[in-house]
Amino acid sequence: MTVTMSDQDKKPWGGRFTAATNEFVEQYTASIDFDKRLYLHDIAGSKAHAQMLAHVDVLTETEASEIIKGLEGIQLDIERGDFAWSVSLEDVHMNIEARLTDRIGAVGKKLHTGRSRNDQVATDIRLFLREEVDLLCDGLLSLQKVLVKLAEREADTIMPGFTHLQTAQPVTFGHHMMAWFEMIERDRQRFVDARKRINVLPLGAAALAGTSYPIDRAYTANLLDFDAVAENSLDAVSDRDFAIEYCAHGTLLMMHLSRFSEELVLWSSAQFDFIDLGDSFCTGSSIMPQKKNPDVPELVRGKSGRVYGNLISLLTIMKSQPLAYNKDNQEDKEPLFDTVDTLLASVRLYTDMLDGLQVKKDVMLEAAARGFSTATDLADYLVRKGVAFRDAHEVVGLSVRFCIENNKDLPDCTLDELQQFSDVIDDDVYKVLTLEGSVAARDHFGGTAPNQVREAVERAKGRMTK
Ligand code: ARG
Repeated sequence: MTVTMSDQDKKPWGGRFTAATNEFVEQYTASIDFDKRLYLHDIAGSKAHAQMLAHVDVLTETEASEIIKGLEGIQLDIERGDFAWSVSLEDVHMNIEARLTDRIGAVGKKLHTGRSRNDQVATDIRLFLREEVDLLCDGLLSLQKVLVKLAEREADTIMPGFTHLQTAQPVTFGHHMMAWFEMIERDRQRFVDARKRINVLPLGAAALAGTSYPIDRAYTANLLDFDAVAENSLDAVSDRDFAIEYCAHGTLLMMHLSRFSEELVLWSSAQFDFIDLGDSFCTGSSIMPQKKNPDVPELVRGKSGRVYGNLISLLTIMKSQPLAYNKDNQEDKEPLFDTVDTLLASVRLYTDMLDGLQVKKDVMLEAAARGFSTATDLADYLVRKGVAFRDAHEVVGLSVRFCIENNKDLPDCTLDELQQFSDVIDDDVYKVLTLEGSVAARDHFGGTAPNQVREAVERAKGRMTK
């Protein structure tokens, strides 16, 4: 379906064309439906570009200020909902540029001097992502603060620690929360680090080779708060590794939140019953009146899927592209936007949800007392009395078997019963068989003892800096 060109259908690049774009091609190639989200960054980049062009005398000061005023007017129009985005103008860049000329006349056509949509879009995405990284890092800090608050409150709270999801040794709930703090801290540091590579200015690379105008890229970088100017014009317009890196860090963050979610789902089940997530973070069932479902953690766990998928999309979009810019790159936006939105929303929900988390101390204590969680402490006790660790392991194994056969737990055994497996066992054994004694004994840097948790909390408070 080829239609003839009419005046209103003229594209900014229409000069060398004699036939209008096929209508379906127009729809297929347009990105306006999703890249209009970049309008603020597009306008900021254009204003800085115009200012730079005036600074190097490619535009007059009057021309630049007319352009800047026009762009500011367009921004207001967009914010008021008074801007008709046009698919035939393809993308956010051409929509804004065309409107600029409508508003201010021919001088609007000078804005694109020494620039291409290729360096323009690369600049827009970097400006956008830089802002999103800052928002996410703030969100992660809030989440970490809630974790630290929980850890401080529950530094003495005993729960069973698991390996293979089998009761292993007692730990403190505060220690468990600080484990999540550490994972989130590494996630945050990864985003902080990625920001350095995001915050580099591509503008000036033009289509691919640079421009013959006497541009001052450092000047533009300074106006837009970029830390550096991209060294190579071909690289600047073509690679999206900075966005891929952000998405990769996002997959790790979602992997962590997904694991955390798995614990929250288990812990809020009737079988564990360790925590209460709060009614406002759960939903009911339309058929089973007794249900209170942990939807938020489940959904965060589920949404890790799309974030992983978005990373693979971006890697695949990039992997076969020869230098420099190719239209393939237009496909970078939707996965990136989706990851940005999913990360921010998940972190925000997690922060609010954990802030209201109630811990059922009695249930956790009782659960920790079951399952021979102090068996290792008995072995360590024997070693301190001169028994070799392997022999101690054997003695404890026999004691545990005795308990299973007699349906009791280690601290319930009489001294006589314990002494049948080793005669070095004494009255003082009961101290190490208690849960409190067990956690208090792990009293070193990184251990689960309540006072170590309190020290970790203090250190964490100092580490939560920007
Ligand atoms: N909408 C395009 C994108 O997102 C902008 C750059 C287009 N450049 C071009 N040479 N067609 O990548």
